[in-house]
Amino acid sequence: MTIVGAADFVPQTRELSTLAAAAQSCRGCDLFENASRAVFGSGPVGARMMLVGEQPGDREDVAGEPFIGPAGRLLDKALNEAGLPRAPVYLTNAVKHFKFVPAERGTRRIHKTPSRTEVVACRPWLIAEMQAVEPAVVVLLGATAAKSLLGNAFRLTAHRGEVLSLPAETKPAGGRDAKVVVTVHPSSVLRGPSQAREESFRSLVSDLRFAGELLDA
Ligand code: URA
Ligand code: SF4
Repeated sequence: MTIVGAADFVPQTRELSTLAAAAQSCRGCDLFENASRAVFGSGPVGARMMLVGEQPGDREDVAGEPFIGPAGRLLDKALNEAGLPRAPVYLTNAVKHFKFVPAERGTRRIHKTPSRTEVVACRPWLIAEMQAVEPAVVVLLGATAAKSLLGNAFRLTAHRGEVLSLPAETKPAGGRDAKVVVTVHPSSVLRGPSQAREESFRSLVSDLRFAGELLDA
């Protein structure tokens, strides 16, 4: 099947509930075929902070909510240590359908990294969400989210600790510019060797704290 991209499926409205409902019918790339549902972002309409991950995982695909599985628990812990309650934060992903290797009987389906084509195909949903929420601060969790919004050549490790800005189409005409911070993806903390895990968790917390400070700046 050819990959057409999500643009033709995104309604004109910037009402989040309408966008979320419309994402269920998206056929912008092949990922809808095997996933259970599109997992749209979640959080309050006027959220001042938006966090962008990669794609839903096994648990998220079943429940239809972002960041509720193991990576989400780790993210909650990191947010908590950074002094940022999760409830006022808008959480979403660069890609809305779960890409996976089919599981053997009784095992969990294994996450597969989305291709550049799939990330680009799904980008119109992320742009629409950003225009709807108009966050003041955006945290890009990991390379997939960072490359979706900042370009394929973007190197995350070279830009941690910086305040970046986004392309103009991520905000409504005349809207304010969001401040952008990049950090590691919580799944990469979970996957790392155990000695490195604490250090990489600490660096996630400190990047989130830095992002939190930008809210008040
Ligand atoms: N990883 C992500 O990037 N997003 C989720 O929603 C869950 C795991
Ligand atoms: Fe559409 Fe994105 Fe799902 Fe592909 S992953 S079908 S572009 S919502």
